[in-house]
Amino acid sequence: MDMMDIIENYESVVRSYVRSFPTVFEKARGSYLYNTEGEAFLDFFAGASVMNYGHNHPELKKALLDYLSNDNVVHSLDMASVMRARFLETFHDRILKPRGMNHRVQFPGPTGTNAVESALKIARKATGRPGVVAFTNAFHGMTLGSLSVTGNQFKRDGAGVPLSYTESMPYDSYFGDDFDTIDYLEKMLQDGGSGVGHPSAVIVETVQAEGGVNVASGEWLRKLQDCCRRNDMLFMIDDIQTGNGRTGHYFSFEEFGLDPDVVTVSKSISGFGFPLSIVLVKPEYDIWEPGEHNGTFRGFNPAMVTAKRAIELFWSDDSFANEVQEKSKHVRARLAALVEKYPEAQGTVRGRGMMQAVAFENEDIAGAISQHCFKRNMIIETAGPNDEVLKLLPPLTTEMDDLDRGLDLIEESLRAVLADMGIGGHQPAANQ
Ligand SMILES: Cc1ncc(COP(=O)(O)O)c(C=O)c1O
Repeated sequence: MDMMDIIENYESVVRSYVRSFPTVFEKARGSYLYNTEGEAFLDFFAGASVMNYGHNHPELKKALLDYLSNDNVVHSLDMASVMRARFLETFHDRILKPRGMNHRVQFPGPTGTNAVESALKIARKATGRPGVVAFTNAFHGMTLGSLSVTGNQFKRDGAGVPLSYTESMPYDSYFGDDFDTIDYLEKMLQDGGSGVGHPSAVIVETVQAEGGVNVASGEWLRKLQDCCRRNDMLFMIDDIQTGNGRTGHYFSFEEFGLDPDVVTVSKSISGFGFPLSIVLVKPEYDIWEPGEHNGTFRGFNPAMVTAKRAIELFWSDDSFANEVQEKSKHVRARLAALVEKYPEAQGTVRGRGMMQAVAFENEDIAGAISQHCFKRNMIIETAGPNDEVLKLLPPLTTEMDDLDRGLDLIEESLRAVLADMGIGGHQPAANQ
């Protein structure tokens, strides 16, 4: 059987990205994926920000192969291993300490949603209160706790049971720029008649990636942190998609001087595409009994090999962060020029760092651009409740020429989509 037929026949219908990008990938290097025909696809999705340092980075691969070829331990539950100690030391010395963070590191299980589940448990156990505040259009994962703090109704419906003990509050600018949603939250928390009670914590993304690349301002985030302090609630940041340099700094919150009590990190932490996830928790909230939160795959040694090497390579000084910030400015400027050149597309640029996006009034445009880009051998995804946002997530290591190539392909695809839709008098795609 043809390989795609095998997948279609044998794998559950729940599969999704294979439907948007229907080709069989075989190899990957840097910012490119290659299918079985050897065709190169420019990757502006990076596994939803898992591949921030590009595919099969040679230095990370070398560290991994050296580790494996010496029969070093691969699986060790959470028993002590050399690699566990080395990773923790590097993460402490090069990431936490320079940022004045004294958080402890918990390994909650390999995926992002494992980290979110742990964070929710920590808040509830530390305060003895079950409620958690989450935000409109938030995305925190697909297990029951994470779904209960996720906004998207389609995903929530998949739970099949009521999702409880959470309050959904409006994110920054949810009601437009003139409505202060933190004032609203504060009122709901203070008013004995609001029905909200006294939640244990707030969980927030600094940029809502899946929710449509909604960017919270530094001021809003600081007010949120103050609100948590005033109301005796833990301030928890989900940095799973925005962390590891995606917004131009290691953590997405550091440029605003925030001091979260709990931080969830995953996706690009291993640097190589291995599942690895951590929860950073201030010592005063590290209140677990030994083994109270358990799991077989907590801290996979090979993932810690590449995670440690990635930190050494990219986060020993500011040069990589500066490079990412420069590239981000370029991408942002080109997108701004694009929406100005095609006003009929009614696009708005949004994002932070190397998570930039264009939101379109016409909700069909972003998906159609993604499909046209795929025809031009490029992978780019959509976001937002109605997939109305085209989200650019190239690896942070993407060379300037490839960034420009991708941006050219986006423009070509936009022109083709406008023509297909009969918007603005563009020529049909076939003629381009
Ligand atoms: C902000 C955020 N939190 C949590 C998750 C869940 O991570 P995972 O899919 O690894 O469970 C995601 C995944 O996209 C995410 O973007």
